[in-house]
Amino acid sequence: MKSALLATVSWLVSSTAAGPFGDTISRDVPLSPRRAGFRDAVSTHAIPMRKHTLTPSTSHPALHRRANVPARLRNIYDVYYSIDLQVGNQMIPVSVDTGSSDTWMVQEPYECVSFWFDPGGVANCGLGTGFIGNLSGGTIPDLPPFVRSYVDGTFVQGFYGREDVTIGGITAHNQRLALVNYTYWHGDGQTSGLLGLAYPYLTSLDGPDQNQPPYDPVFTTMWKSGVIEPVFSIALSRNEDQGNGTSGVPGSGKQQESYLALGGLPPVDIDQATWARTPIHGMRAVPQWGFDTDERGMYIVKPGAFVLERGGNGTDAGMELVRNTTQIPVLIDVGATLSYLPKGLVNELYAAFDPPAKYMSTGGLFYALCNATVPNFGVQIGESTFYMAHEDLLRQTARDPTGEWCRIGVTDTDSPPHVLGVSFLTNVVSVFDVGQGEMRFAARKRY
Ligand SMILES: *[C@@H]1O[C@H](CO)[C@@H](O)[C@H](O)[C@H]1NC(C)=O
Ligand SMILES: *[C@@H]1O[C@H](CO)[C@@H](O)[C@H](O)[C@H]1NC(C)=O
Ligand SMILES: *[C@@H]1O[C@H](CO)[C@@H](O)[C@H](O)[C@H]1NC(C)=O
Ligand SMILES: *[C@@H]1O[C@H](CO)[C@@H](O)[C@H](O)[C@H]1NC(C)=O
Ligand SMILES: *[C@@H]1O[C@H](CO)[C@@H](O)[C@H](O)[C@H]1NC(C)=O
Ligand SMILES: *[C@@H]1O[C@H](CO)[C@@H](O)[C@H](O)[C@H]1NC(C)=O
Repeated sequence: MKSALLATVSWLVSSTAAGPFGDTISRDVPLSPRRAGFRDAVSTHAIPMRKHTLTPSTSHPALHRRANVPARLRNIYDVYYSIDLQVGNQMIPVSVDTGSSDTWMVQEPYECVSFWFDPGGVANCGLGTGFIGNLSGGTIPDLPPFVRSYVDGTFVQGFYGREDVTIGGITAHNQRLALVNYTYWHGDGQTSGLLGLAYPYLTSLDGPDQNQPPYDPVFTTMWKSGVIEPVFSIALSRNEDQGNGTSGVPGSGKQQESYLALGGLPPVDIDQATWARTPIHGMRAVPQWGFDTDERGMYIVKPGAFVLERGGNGTDAGMELVRNTTQIPVLIDVGATLSYLPKGLVNELYAAFDPPAKYMSTGGLFYALCNATVPNFGVQIGESTFYMAHEDLLRQTARDPTGEWCRIGVTDTDSPPHVLGVSFLTNVVSVFDVGQGEMRFAARKRY
């Protein structure tokens, strides 16, 4: 749902947070031959994730009622994935995000407020039950408050403490996390916080000067303790599933579940011939952010090409319309519903729908007729091109009020970063190899 740093980072363009931080991850590891066969093992710590779909009625009314909502606050985060985090002895449902690094949850009782663009609004944060009582490791003294603002206008505020955090049988002992007691949020009541899976570097972008000493996030603590390899992977289903795994037995052809797998691969059917790898780039890779560092913060990769082909079943079906090999930095973000790519490319994609897609001011995004002919659109990584399924390009579940127009799964963005979000990630298994400093992808078998 989030991508915290997109908001934080936009403040930083003029005030660079430079400096050598104490990250122990070597960033110059060459792609290792050991990995050439991509023989990751299926993890015994694969945790089913629940898929949530936010309908307009469950998102914050302010986003629909007010005309002066900032353009970036359009409600386009309509899908998110969650897991249960064991925090001490309490189970806390949290959204999973690869675009931020902090793990936080509300502490009962907390204060929910309405935001500045809706001063008279009724505060309704839509958060589930939060952490109750005190953290066993206590609060961490002498730190500035925990404050995060997210791209959709939401914010959280609280303080840091320590507690054991367990996911899928792996425990981050005495983990630093944040308890939130003051927030503007718009959830559907199903989660109470966020699990941030990005690098330690992002945690330093806090406080007035955005230059705090970084700390190890949950996943970093886990792999540094030696109980898992420094790798996690994600498989997202595009279909609804309760996440209890009963609908998707590997090999049965019914793979509908989503997984976060720690230390290895998720148990889903993969097209082994399609494995591809690409380095994860440091913060400097996005020049507009103004970071003067090669330190890794988010999962930034540079696809080899974007490919657009005519769709349908006519004689020219499959004809290549565009192959753009400009290597742009792209964020791999489970917390983003859509994918965000350069305007020129996205306009070509819209035009390749038959009939072409069009901008609808009611939805603030591009839509095409739900029965339009959909082109083929793929992202080339290494030797493989990963095509987005037609139901991800033309999202039958996200319709305009007439019900005849469906939302396109790729949108343009005026400002970086470009993002491959859920609409892309449902087509692949993504391996976030922090140890090797690379991402690997393989196509999921059709599900
Ligand atoms: C939590 O800690 C505060 C301050 O130390 C204390 O007053 C309170 O009783 C504690 N609450 C619980 C439930 O232990
Ligand atoms: C939140 O917690 C901090 C630290 O304990 C405290 O200073 C602050 O007053 C609390 N805010 C609210 C709204 O409860
Ligand atoms: C998952 O569990 C929920 C609650 O127990 C149940 O209602 C649902 O049918 C289950 N889903 C599947 C796919 O088995
Ligand atoms: C092509 O697709 C259209 C619409 O799906 C269908 O009506 C038509 O029969 C198809 N033609 C062929 C030759 O498959
Ligand atoms: C490819 O994409 C880049 C980045 O958006 C753009 O600047 C360039 O004009 C595109 N090239 C072609 C041939 O369309
Ligand atoms: C596609 O949908 C539109 C609007 O629902 C309808 O008017 C049109 O007849 C449909 N076209 C086909 C080929 O079914």
